[in-house]
Amino acid sequence: MSRIAYVNGQYVPHGEAAVHIEDRGYQFADGVYEVIPIVNGKMIGEKGHIDRLWRSMNELKMDAPMDPGPMKIVMREVLRLNKVETGLIYIQVTRGVAPRDHPFPDDAISSLVMTAKKTSLEAAEKKAEKGVGVITVPDIRWERCDIKSVSLLPNILAKQQAKEAGAYEAFQYDEDGNITEGSSTNAWMVDQDGTLITRPTNNSILAGITRAELLELLEQKNMKVELRAFSVEELRNAREVFLTSSSAYVQPVVEVDGKPIGNGQPGSISSELRHIFKDFMQN
Ligand SMILES: Cc1ncc(COP(=O)(O)O)c(C=O)c1O
Repeated sequence: MSRIAYVNGQYVPHGEAAVHIEDRGYQFADGVYEVIPIVNGKMIGEKGHIDRLWRSMNELKMDAPMDPGPMKIVMREVLRLNKVETGLIYIQVTRGVAPRDHPFPDDAISSLVMTAKKTSLEAAEKKAEKGVGVITVPDIRWERCDIKSVSLLPNILAKQQAKEAGAYEAFQYDEDGNITEGSSTNAWMVDQDGTLITRPTNNSILAGITRAELLELLEQKNMKVELRAFSVEELRNAREVFLTSSSAYVQPVVEVDGKPIGNGQPGSISSELRHIFKDFMQN
């Protein structure tokens, strides 16, 4: 079955889907996006993702291409046309097409593109059972990492560096030597006393929806979390490390900068949280 994309009001074959060369997303990365997981037909964290998309657009004074209600209808249609039961939906909004000039155009109409793809829960499970490696790299991004912008060049460079080092992800660190977040994930650690730690949200990181959902589940289970920045040094000496995102869910990390964390196996707390999150997605 061929994939179908939504582009500015039309459902078109994925291979033919296109936007104008003067779309400001293409010219300036003047756009925002969301990636929403779907598990067994259930959209996970839809409200959080839609709210964050609107927040990103508002922060950039970008007009919404449509109201949230119609957008949710398009999202469901894209999923239906692509027969996605478990997978991801990608939504991108840009400031639209206008002659190339840096200031906001007066009359451009925001562009909206959506695609959906299938993913395998089993593949994620396998990866999680083994754990992954991360490297640490300087965070060279701008000061508004809270906006989910398509301007991802520093993230791409970090992820490529991880790939070349044989790792899954790059955790970035700020000028104080504290971990901000991964190139496309939020970072967590468990210290030697068993305390769960993740960085509080501000402009230095994206407020991950998976992170927020996991925090809520932890609260429901009366499990304590310390919201504070932690250093590269603390990360390397952690008892456990894991990361969260809409595509990786809760993913144990077993190696940092080539050195094992604990005994080099996914830790018990990370594994428990992975199960808790899986249950939440599947029920
Ligand atoms: C920089 C960054 N941090 C964190 C995340 C995780 O956010 P979420 O859980 O909403 O997918 C992402 C996801 O793409 C990201 O790009």
